[in-house]
Amino acid sequence: MCGIVGYLGKNQASSILVDGLSKLEYRGYDSAGVAILNDEGLMNVTKCKGRLANLEEKLKENPIHGTVGIGHTRWATHGEPSDVNSHPHTNEKGTIAVVHNGIIENYMKLREWLTSEGYTFKSETDTEVIPHLVDYFYNGDIVEAVMKAVTKMEGSYAIGVVSTYEPGKLVAVRKDSPLIVGLGKDEYFIASDIPAVLNHTRDVYLLEDKEFVVIDEKGVTLLDTVGREINKDVFHVTWDANAAEKGGYEHFMLKEIHEQPKAIRDTMTSRIVKNEKIKLDDITITQEQIKNIDKIYIVACGTAYHAGVIGKYAIEKLARIPVEVEVASEFRYRNPIINEKTLMIVVSQSGETADTLAALREAKRQKARVIAVTNVVGSSISREADDVLYTWAGPEIAVASTKAYVTQLIAMYIIALFFAENKGTLSNEEIEEIKEEMLLLPEKAEKVLETKVVVEKFAANNYMHRDMFFLGRGLDYAVAMEGSLKLKEISYIHSEAYAAGELKHGPIALIEDGTVVIALATQEVLFEKMVSNIKEVKTRGANVLAFAMEGHNEIEKTVDVARYIPRTLEVLAPVLSVIPLQLLSYYTAIAKGCDVDKPRNLAKSVTVE
Ligand code: M6R
Repeated sequence: MCGIVGYLGKNQASSILVDGLSKLEYRGYDSAGVAILNDEGLMNVTKCKGRLANLEEKLKENPIHGTVGIGHTRWATHGEPSDVNSHPHTNEKGTIAVVHNGIIENYMKLREWLTSEGYTFKSETDTEVIPHLVDYFYNGDIVEAVMKAVTKMEGSYAIGVVSTYEPGKLVAVRKDSPLIVGLGKDEYFIASDIPAVLNHTRDVYLLEDKEFVVIDEKGVTLLDTVGREINKDVFHVTWDANAAEKGGYEHFMLKEIHEQPKAIRDTMTSRIVKNEKIKLDDITITQEQIKNIDKIYIVACGTAYHAGVIGKYAIEKLARIPVEVEVASEFRYRNPIINEKTLMIVVSQSGETADTLAALREAKRQKARVIAVTNVVGSSISREADDVLYTWAGPEIAVASTKAYVTQLIAMYIIALFFAENKGTLSNEEIEEIKEEMLLLPEKAEKVLETKVVVEKFAANNYMHRDMFFLGRGLDYAVAMEGSLKLKEISYIHSEAYAAGELKHGPIALIEDGTVVIALATQEVLFEKMVSNIKEVKTRGANVLAFAMEGHNEIEKTVDVARYIPRTLEVLAPVLSVIPLQLLSYYTAIAKGCDVDKPRNLAKSVTVE
């Protein structure tokens, strides 16, 4: 996600800000910028789309001298990557500059209100409401103005503010988005993450939600929401910079697995709200067009394809529209039947996968409407599709996709519910029940992460096997496919996913003494049948690790190790049941000594056919 750096001290801010931002590059970004108060106390903003090198080039051409400033690397969520959407954003007079990380959920309402108050907006971002809000509340005290502005903001934010009104001051605050304060000698910093300040200091404050930071030449003051001073212990950083970039996790993959509760929550933000209709800002398809759809193709590759398989179940079950799911590289060459009643949903984390993009173009050529589900704003797929539903997973750095997958599942449920709402295939009560359960998924995902000790132990005892099998029925089979792909990708163990009912039609011949089988039995109506299938492999000597919903402890009589996921609606279970499978592949790869984040032969974004 975005990166923030702020500086107040005796040295030139420009190079310190750019250096700090370079230490946050691992977070992913598509544009960068700085706002520096020059020696005369005037605001100078330089920002541009693209890499930090572009910003550095601009700053070389037009250097800004000044010792107070804020910098930002933006990872687009609201509004495509562009110069104008880059941060910092300012008020119209250019007297207040703001950098922001997070999402202001009520920005549309705030924008309407501020517009009615005479403010004009230059960008498409949610962030731009903040400098206008601070401007609106400014009455001679910049700290008070920021505090008042924050009371109007809903959502998540870490912000840094500088102003020509009080050029010797830097104000910051956070809520649900990280922010630290670096304490140097006669110089102070704010940053989204510790690596940004490690060249200057190892002493930091770790801010809690709604703690305000006021930095001036005398030092750092921390305030609560009513302006009372807070005392805080200084945290002394002992880790090396690399470990810090990964938030203390050994690998990006493990960090991203742990970020899933937040990614799920963010993707539902402002779209799934109790007792309100589903809101999809970027989707313009009309109710009439939805009613007219006679077939949906979901087209994607790899993990995104597996999310599509779950999408098929969800859309057919909830919205009663027939869905075909296809691997993009096959779809584009098989002359599929497409017409103006066909809807294509393409799913792609990167938004750049060559085969998926080609399938999208083929569908459009044949007059189908295309909805893209992607994680990257401004990507080729997002630009070429008719409608876009962004997954707000944040940048995914590990090659093995984890948090992008669970957010793709959330996107599938949102689309299914949106269609169900428009087609009237579910009652309001049924839709509300699903939404309520969806809103509980982040905390249930946190709970599933606690299974990691058992999974790690199983991996340590079984990593030396050459083959593993993943079994499931219905939605569990779709999750089994994803678990199997993850294991192959990063531990290089051959694995197969089978629909458990298909076993006896051939694959059961492969089961022998000690064969490792991962069985998923989370689907209530299929539970008994799944247990029978597990017995079939157990009696042939398999070593079975099973996952079921809480309350199905009887499975322990049949399997070697059983773990449980918190109860939820069957259709939503994949969001939870995939997590232990991700952990299993991670710990198996670790036990084998594999390079988890950069597995051999694989690339994060496959832009060639
Ligand atoms: O960026 P995309 O979602 O279009 O990528 C599709 C696949 O290449 C991707 O999911 C791949 O399978 C991952 N490495 C899975 O972990």
